[in-house]
Amino acid sequence: KDSLSLKGKTFVITAGPTREKIDPVRFISNHSTGKMGYALAEEAKNAGANVVLISGPVSLPAPQGMEVVKVESAEEMYNAVLNNFEIADVVIKTAAVADYRPKTAYDYKVKKQPGDTFIELERTNDILFELGRRKRKQVLVGFAAETDNVEEYAQKKLHKKNADMIVANNVKAEGAGFGTDTNIVTLFKHNGEITELPLMSKRAVAQKIIEEIAFLLKDMDKN
Ligand code: PMT
Repeated sequence: KDSLSLKGKTFVITAGPTREKIDPVRFISNHSTGKMGYALAEEAKNAGANVVLISGPVSLPAPQGMEVVKVESAEEMYNAVLNNFEIADVVIKTAAVADYRPKTAYDYKVKKQPGDTFIELERTNDILFELGRRKRKQVLVGFAAETDNVEEYAQKKLHKKNADMIVANNVKAEGAGFGTDTNIVTLFKHNGEITELPLMSKRAVAQKIIEEIAFLLKDMDKN
């Protein structure tokens, strides 16, 4: 398949959750297992691309034939992605990045006290937004993990983050989102095209996304 040859193209793909430290024994995180992002990395590699996989903490084995950069926090992921942005032709932001982190990360175990407590949170950097601001030649693909108004929020993300494509999944739907081996996604492209995909394995979803990106790259090379 000619259209799928990604030889000479560099893909930077993020996967997994981030961990935001509270103290040495506690953190704030989410349910991402890295399956969707790792499937994308494998499929991009199979199509001939050079792949840099930037991964939060997951228990999947490191894929062969690509550079794997392990990170923990949103801040580390931000730095790793920006360090690799110049060499990227494509960035796919599959990772479930924390939007907030504890304002203070203690370096000792916080002892429990009688009664309630609270953790003050501050915003993390929005990596996708920053990439959208800086992008020149790169194809930028984001994900949207939503529980409601999936289309509306996906379209908003597409424009606000200056992305070329948003892959939206309703994480409340059976067989979609976090942890499962399958996903149900809709692709929203910057040209207004919307492609709704049925329940598929994450591997097949990844193949389809990589194929769509190959078309986007071809369009760009034409112009
Ligand atoms: O890992 P799995 O178990 O296989 O699960 C897959 C998945 C559900 C994690 C994946 O399909 C998915 O939806 N990933 C995106 C999760 C997410 O954080 O969505 P969001 O709607 O909160 O973020 C939107 C986009 O902005 C994402 O591309 C995200 O990477 C990016 N983002 C978010 C916050 C932040 N500070 N910086 C970012 O770049």
